Amino acid sequence: MSMDEITLENLDAGEFIEEQCSAIAERVAGGLAINALSGGVDSSVVTMLGHRAIGSRLMTYFVDNGIMRRDEPAQVASMFEKLGVPIEIVDAREQFFSALKGLTDPEEKREAITQTFYRDIFGDLVRASGARYLLQGTILTDVEETVAGVKRQHNILSQLGIDTREQFGYTLIEPLIRLRKPGVRKVGEALGLPGELFARPPFPGPALAARVIGETTPDRIDLVREATAIVEEELVDIKAFQYLAILHEDKVTGIRDGKRDYGHQIEIRCWDSTDAKTARPTRLDYALLEKLASRITTEVKGVVSVTYNIASKPTSTIEAV
Ligand code: XMP
Repeated sequence: MSMDEITLENLDAGEFIEEQCSAIAERVAGGLAINALSGGVDSSVVTMLGHRAIGSRLMTYFVDNGIMRRDEPAQVASMFEKLGVPIEIVDAREQFFSALKGLTDPEEKREAITQTFYRDIFGDLVRASGARYLLQGTILTDVEETVAGVKRQHNILSQLGIDTREQFGYTLIEPLIRLRKPGVRKVGEALGLPGELFARPPFPGPALAARVIGETTPDRIDLVREATAIVEEELVDIKAFQYLAILHEDKVTGIRDGKRDYGHQIEIRCWDSTDAKTARPTRLDYALLEKLASRITTEVKGVVSVTYNIASKPTSTIEAV
C-alpha cells in the first residue's frame, strides 16, 4: 500500500472535490488546460472536476483512436453534452493504426499507444490551443503496475522518467493519483455523474488493442469489437468487476457447414475483484457460457472456438496485453 493512498474509508468525497478543484484552478491560474476523456470512470471523473474548477478554460477532447468499443465516441460525447460539458472528437484512427502496424510485442504496442497519445496528439493539441496543462485520470493502481514492472500503463509518464514539459510541451495534472477505483466511483457519484458513467466497468486506455494478441489491425479490432459487444450485452447483469473478449493470435481448425474452417479463437474473461490488483474468474453459469459461445461463433465472422479463462490474477492479468 502506498503511503499516499487515500483509502475508501478515509475518503470524504465532498472535501476531496473542493480540494482538487482549488488545486486545479490554482495551477492553471488564468490559463487553459486540455483534458483527455475516454469515457472510462477515471477520465469522466477528472472531466467533471476540471469543468467545475475552470469551466470553459478546460477543453475536453475525446480521441477516436479506432480501437474503442462499438459507437463509443458518439455515446460518450452525447452523455457529456447532457451534463453541459462540450466535447470535441479528434479523429486519430489512422495515426493509431499506423503506429501499431507490425507490432506484436505487448510492451511495444503499449509504448506506441503512449507515444501517439502524448507526444503526437496531445502535443499537437496543446501547441494549437496554447494550453499548458493536460488533465488526466491516472489512479494509484496504474502507477503501481507500471512501477512494479507488471505492464506499462498507457498513461504513466513521469514515473518512467518522461518529462512531459520538456518533451511534449505541457505539464500533467493528475487529481486522482491517490485513489483506487472504488474511491474514484465515490467521487464520481458525489460530482453528480450518472450511474451509467461512475459505475461503468473499467476499460483500459489502450482500449481493444489490449485485447488483441498479436498485430492490431483494423480487421482484427473489428472482430474483437463484435465479440466485446456480445460479452458486454450478456454479462451486464452479472455485476462482475470487469468482463471482456480477447482475440487470440493462433487460428485453429474448426468445422462449418460440414467442411473444414480454419478460424479464429475468442477467449472470454470475467473477473471478480475490488481494486484490480488481484482478481478471480467469476463462476459463471454454464448455460450462460454456452450461450456466449453460440452467439460469438454465429455472429462474429470467422470465429470457430470460444474459451473461458479460469486462472486468477496473479498469475494472469486482467487484460491479455
Ligand atoms: P491488468 O491487465 O494489468 O489490468 O490486470 C488492471 C486494470 O487496469 C486496466 N488497465 C489499464 N487502465 N491504462 C489504463 O487506464 C492502461 O494502460 C491499462 N491497462 C490495463 C485493466 O482494464 C484493469 O481494470
